[in-house]
Amino acid sequence: MDYRFALIGYPIKHSLSPWIHERFLRKAGLQGTYTIREIDLEADFEQQVKQLMEEKIDGFNVTVPYKQKIMPLLDEIDPLAKKIGAVNTVTNENGKWVGYNTDGVGYVRSLESKLPDLLQHLSQRILLIGAGGAARGIYSALDHTGFTAIDIANRTKEKAVEIAGLGSESTVTNILSLQEAAERMGDYDVIIQTTSVGMKPNVGKSILELGHVKPTSIVSDIVYQPLVTKLLQDARQLGASIHFGHTMLLYQAQYAFEIWTNIKVPIDNMDDELQLTLEGR
Ligand code: ATR
Repeated sequence: MDYRFALIGYPIKHSLSPWIHERFLRKAGLQGTYTIREIDLEADFEQQVKQLMEEKIDGFNVTVPYKQKIMPLLDEIDPLAKKIGAVNTVTNENGKWVGYNTDGVGYVRSLESKLPDLLQHLSQRILLIGAGGAARGIYSALDHTGFTAIDIANRTKEKAVEIAGLGSESTVTNILSLQEAAERMGDYDVIIQTTSVGMKPNVGKSILELGHVKPTSIVSDIVYQPLVTKLLQDARQLGASIHFGHTMLLYQAQYAFEIWTNIKVPIDNMDDELQLTLEGR
């Protein structure tokens, strides 16, 4: 059987997803294609999605700006995606269209690839920086995985309070300003930067000072252009471990592919390959 997958979003011409999923198909020994279906902002979104569904493809990814807009067009939404309020993966279950969100789970998997005993330390203290869509997905997935101490620092505190409301009863979340987070940096084992601050062309920018970070901590940045952001450079200089953003891209795709095919493809050296591709850009 030939699998057919697609990506919808705008703009997506330079998306890395076709490269990743075509590699997954080959690794899994499957035939198939993954195509880009850009939907213009002025286009009739519902009609374009219906058309894609009528083609009876096996599944599709959804990226900005359509992760919320897709939801009312689906037959069913996975509870975690519902909680996050965004869908990035849709699967065709015998004609029923079911939506998932693989971003947060993908992030947790990527962190686990760096720290294999991550899940043995569910009470370690985590600091999430930012309170946008990415933070929402990562917070929910961390909470769902069983982490119990996840603080959120954001410029606008109200947005962080809203995300904290998604946490389960056993999860303790303190809300901090960016300044307070910088002062208490030494309290955290895992620090996760989820905003776009530091992304090209603003490569000299860092959202906060890492000053008191512990050398045993890990600092992670979901920005992957550049791969080594100012925040990660600082972390390295202070002796902390670092975790690159592009790995989240690979693992959210791995989970999407698993939803579509039931096959969990190993990432192996795709991490290094993607790193080279990004550095060449
Ligand atoms: P995404 O959905 O990709 O996560 P988003 O919803 O635009 O992006 O969220 C961006 C996050 O980055 C927000 O938390 C935002 O802070 P506010 O909630 O105060 O708006 C944060 N952010 C963006 N630029 C920032 C900056 N220059 N300084 C501090 N925080 C910033």
